[in-house]
Amino acid sequence: MSFFSAARSRVGGLRQSGGLRTQFADFVRAARRSIAMTPMQQVLRKLKRRGVRVEDLVALELFGGTGRIHTVDYANQVSSLEVWEINAKAEPLLKRNLPNARVKITNVYEEIGKTEGKYSLIVVDNPTSTFSEDCEHFALFPRVLGLATDSACLVVNVIPRLGRLARFLYPHLFNDDHLRHRERFYRTASPESIPVEAMIETYRRLVGDRGFALRGWFVVRRTSFLHYLVLQIERGTPTGSRGR
Ligand SMILES: C[S@@+](CC[C@H](N)C(=O)[O-])C[C@H]1O[C@@H](n2cnc3c(N)ncnc32)[C@H](O)[C@@H]1O
Repeated sequence: MSFFSAARSRVGGLRQSGGLRTQFADFVRAARRSIAMTPMQQVLRKLKRRGVRVEDLVALELFGGTGRIHTVDYANQVSSLEVWEINAKAEPLLKRNLPNARVKITNVYEEIGKTEGKYSLIVVDNPTSTFSEDCEHFALFPRVLGLATDSACLVVNVIPRLGRLARFLYPHLFNDDHLRHRERFYRTASPESIPVEAMIETYRRLVGDRGFALRGWFVVRRTSFLHYLVLQIERGTPTGSRGR
């Protein structure tokens, strides 16, 4: 099968109905997927290189959507997968796109206080900016750490800064409210520009307060402004962390 026909058939299988922009984004993702170059596929490769046995990971995706954006990239590689999503209309697509996953239609912020489950890969794919009761993933901390096994990988979306094009395309990002939340969460006076290294100090403190050490971290670019930040955490290890 040629590169383009593989990409086209993949899109056809996973696409939910959407506008041209969604379809184009799906097409690009499928093309990258067919050569194992989506950002999530890169995350998995980097984890393997660091000695993580991806096939043993017990995964949880918070904010599952339909699973088509990036959950499909790791669903078949991990030992098990649970997905939480609030929108009941997404359930049939989630089940179709992720046939082996346990799908829970639930509010992440309520579920997190109820579940007894522990996970060694936690992927937080929140809507960007402010939404319902949160901004980015900030209100999930520190509770999200209660879901982690003693040695776990936590993947969050971070926005170090916005370029001009991103500001033009996504004018809701970095509004006053969003910036106030960033100021508070990252304890910074310059919420419009926060180097990843500075963000790391926030996450190191947050995981430390819950008895975890930051054993390592790395970033993978997702879009022009969004990056996966992957945090490898381990309970009770007193040493510092290794970046990249
Ligand atoms: C960025 S999309 C997720 C994309 C998905 N990870 C994928 O791979 O296709 C964000 C999702 O979060 C869901 N969401 C928003 N607030 C939520 C909440 N409080 N609890 C659970 N899901 C929520 C939205 O319905 C939306 O589907």
